[in-house]
Amino acid sequence: MEGTSLVMVGMLVMVMFVCKGNAEEVTYDGRSLIIGGQRKLLFSGSIHYPRSTPEMWPSLIAKAKEGGLDVIQTYVFWNVHEPQPGQYDFSGNYDLVMFIKEIQAQGLYACLRIGPYIESEWNYGGFPFWLHDIPGISYRTDNEPFKLYMQNFTTKIVTLMKSEKLYASQGGPIILSQIENEYQNIEAAFGNEGRSYVQWAAKMAVGLQTGVPWIMCKQTDAPDPVINTCNGMNCGETFTGPNSPTKPSMWTENWTSFYQVFGGPPYIRSAEDIAFHTSLFIAKNGCYVNYYMYHGGTNFGRTSSAYVITGYYDQAPLDEYGLQRQPKWGHLREMHLAIKACSKTLLAGQQSILSLGPLQQAYVFQEVSGDCAALLVNNDTRNSATVDFQNSSYQLPPRSISILPDCLNVTFSTAKVTTESSTRTSRSNIALSSSETWEMYNEISPNFLDNSFEADDLLEHMNATKDKSDYLWYTVRFQPDSSCSEPTIHVLSYAHAAHAFVNGIYAGGAHGNHDVKNFTLEIPVKLDSETNNISILSVMAGLPDSGAFLERRFAGLRDVLIRCNGEDDYSLTANYTWGYKVGLTGEDLQIYKEENLGDLVWSGHETSPPQPLTWFKASFDAPDGDDPVALNLSTMRKGEAWINGQSIGRYWVSLLTATGTPSQTLYHVPRSFLKPTENLVVVLEEIGGDPLGISVDTISISSGKSKIVDSHTREVQNIIRPERMRA
Ligand SMILES: *[C@@H]1O[C@H](CO)[C@@H](O)[C@H](O)[C@H]1NC(C)=O
Ligand SMILES: *[C@@H]1O[C@H](CO)[C@@H](O)[C@H](O)[C@H]1NC(C)=O
Ligand SMILES: *[C@@H]1O[C@H](CO)[C@@H](O)[C@H](O)[C@H]1NC(C)=O
Ligand SMILES: *[C@@H]1O[C@H](CO)[C@@H](O)[C@H](O)[C@H]1NC(C)=O
Ligand SMILES: *[C@@H]1O[C@H](CO)[C@@H](O)[C@H](O)[C@H]1NC(C)=O
Ligand SMILES: *[C@@H]1O[C@H](CO)[C@@H](O)[C@H](O)[C@H]1NC(C)=O
Ligand SMILES: *[C@@H]1O[C@H](CO)[C@@H](O)[C@H](O)[C@H]1NC(C)=O
Ligand SMILES: *[C@@H]1O[C@H](CO)[C@@H](O)[C@H](O)[C@H]1NC(C)=O
Ligand SMILES: *[C@@H]1O[C@H](CO)[C@@H](O)[C@H](O)[C@H]1NC(C)=O
Ligand SMILES: *[C@@H]1O[C@H](CO)[C@@H](O)[C@H](O)[C@H]1NC(C)=O
Repeated sequence: MEGTSLVMVGMLVMVMFVCKGNAEEVTYDGRSLIIGGQRKLLFSGSIHYPRSTPEMWPSLIAKAKEGGLDVIQTYVFWNVHEPQPGQYDFSGNYDLVMFIKEIQAQGLYACLRIGPYIESEWNYGGFPFWLHDIPGISYRTDNEPFKLYMQNFTTKIVTLMKSEKLYASQGGPIILSQIENEYQNIEAAFGNEGRSYVQWAAKMAVGLQTGVPWIMCKQTDAPDPVINTCNGMNCGETFTGPNSPTKPSMWTENWTSFYQVFGGPPYIRSAEDIAFHTSLFIAKNGCYVNYYMYHGGTNFGRTSSAYVITGYYDQAPLDEYGLQRQPKWGHLREMHLAIKACSKTLLAGQQSILSLGPLQQAYVFQEVSGDCAALLVNNDTRNSATVDFQNSSYQLPPRSISILPDCLNVTFSTAKVTTESSTRTSRSNIALSSSETWEMYNEISPNFLDNSFEADDLLEHMNATKDKSDYLWYTVRFQPDSSCSEPTIHVLSYAHAAHAFVNGIYAGGAHGNHDVKNFTLEIPVKLDSETNNISILSVMAGLPDSGAFLERRFAGLRDVLIRCNGEDDYSLTANYTWGYKVGLTGEDLQIYKEENLGDLVWSGHETSPPQPLTWFKASFDAPDGDDPVALNLSTMRKGEAWINGQSIGRYWVSLLTATGTPSQTLYHVPRSFLKPTENLVVVLEEIGGDPLGISVDTISISSGKSKIVDSHTREVQNIIRPERMRA
């Protein structure tokens, strides 16, 4: 295909892409996106391809479609795709093209949020760590080295999409692309260079000529023709609107819940509340609402950002396993149907807003043809209200929006949930409770002489590991004066956990949390009068993912001293040579892979006091059936788990919420990771958990309770009885 032209016709900005095939032009004006000449009111949901498996994609997308979505929205995850500069990976669950083609095969549209900064509670906000070592780089500002790599990756993705004909302008499903992400949050930190960066990013993106519009979320100064969109919980109340009358009102992240951190409780947002705010946004001329997330999924491996748990947005309409979370999924589905029944009138009608009472309004959309649709808002959180609208009386439940596709009958009320709740059950299928099942290997703390490099000070953790591992050993040799009695070691760390070993003996550990990442470890130690080997393991649970100057963050040990009773402190921070080793022996050997198991000597499981830094292995047969599978790690404390060589993510069961419960005990094992028999499970336990309590569970939701069991259920069955009463 060739030939691109940017045409401005009055208030209508048209981006036309001339090509063969059933290409659809995607344009927009102040009211909506216009696809193939038709105005669209679109419901969209975020599903991130690396957070599930290709085997799960067809069913996730089908359930999203059945739930009434038109669009699947995903970020593009730079760090998985370009692990080294110029080396690309689009295999397995990183197969972006296959994911977009699956969306297309099911007849849905796609919104591609390239970023390439994405935040997304994803390691380093999606940046590959090698960016950190590009000379002179400063991320996300008017900085030549950064712009070069950002443009390079953005171009790579756009070129890939074009070569597969995936833009709507080429007959593909992609109707929108996003550049940058919530940049306004940090723009001020960069002054003029922040503003010029926004201009540059927009121009660079538009110059790539995708043939479909670009958006920037949370960016009120998005330059034309890029559309600024809203992210948040309550965009119907908070969005100040597009920055030009020629741009439509779009909500790119309607948070269905919120991400959860280790040590934090789940955030539960009710189906009624989500429906209220979505309907309000539509009433206020919104034309696109995206649920963030529609399916959250799993942060496999070490992909989550600092402290974020492995299950991602499990409270979304499709839970971590892809099961429908009711009533959320069903209630939103009914709302989509009610709104879709009048979307033509909503988009073409003249909007008027009538007061029906002190806290009640009608948003009325009237077409010249006489067709009429209305949304009746009751913003009284306590009381229902009886209102008169067009000579009929309506009872509006507290804090609700009622949808009247014909200005007469109420077909949906955001506050009336008719979908029954589902209950999720985990059933322990296989208990790995016999000590004969397990074998173990204890990591040995390295001494100064085992190090791989040295420095005369305490190095920054991330720059030392290059994110090859969560673990960094800091080792030092130390000889006290003979008079040092009751010695204690004091360690100040800037993230996230630390374990101290003295002469090979574990002395203790400490950790921070999501809100206060720094912490102090203070423990008594036993010192030899000769040279002592002090080894401190610094541990990160994910890299930071947000904020300005990400490239300058500091993590790891800041200060180490030995305090003797009644004596001066020995500061080991300065004037000592430190030895460094990145990662654990088991990681170096990749002993979680079947073929490497023999590279070290495993011993039988002992029930003696648990040792920190222990690897455990066992094998199990896959549970029968198709139900999703999870490992119940409730008796473990902190570490990572692998099934047949594939990491199912970090676990941190011992970091409790304020109410004393773990944030996550069940860890998803995708069915596609399993063989029928003899599946290898390897668990790295950092602190000292009990593997005999681990079970292989199957997950199911209560059946027969949900009204929407049959995918052929038609609209009528979901319509609420008309609420209307004669005046
Ligand atoms: C940009 O990417 C291409 C490969 O797609 C590579 O050949 C080129 O060297 C890259 N340029 C820079 C500046 O990284
Ligand atoms: C956005 O999502 C939040 C939480 O999921 C919900 O409370 C709110 O009503 C939604 N708003 C819109 C406009 O969909
Ligand atoms: C409802 O009332 C609250 C509190 O006064 C206000 O913040 C909000 O904007 C109102 N929402 C609507 C839709 O009127
Ligand atoms: C409501 O009733 C009044 C008086 O009976 C009538 O003039 C008006 O047309 C009616 N409005 C609607 C929308 O039916
Ligand atoms: C709307 O309500 C009226 C009166 O109750 C009824 O006759 C009509 O069939 C309803 N229309 C729809 C589309 O449900
Ligand atoms: C990061 O590590 C590299 C060596 O890999 C070193 O050259 C560089 O100075 C370090 N940067 C910082 C900020 O410490
Ligand atoms: C410290 O490590 C060295 C070298 O590994 C070893 O020879 C020495 O015995 C260790 N010292 C103590 C007190 O364990
Ligand atoms: C720890 O971090 C907090 C911010 O989270 C900071 O205010 C405090 O000064 C830090 N403490 C130390 C000892 O660095
Ligand atoms: C480090 O050594 C230098 C000179 O060798 C000395 O001046 C300085 O006080 C020492 N610093 C510490 C923290 O001991
Ligand atoms: C995990 O297993 C423990 C028993 O070890 C059980 O008490 C707990 O309920 C299980 N957790 C879940 C979520 O099923």
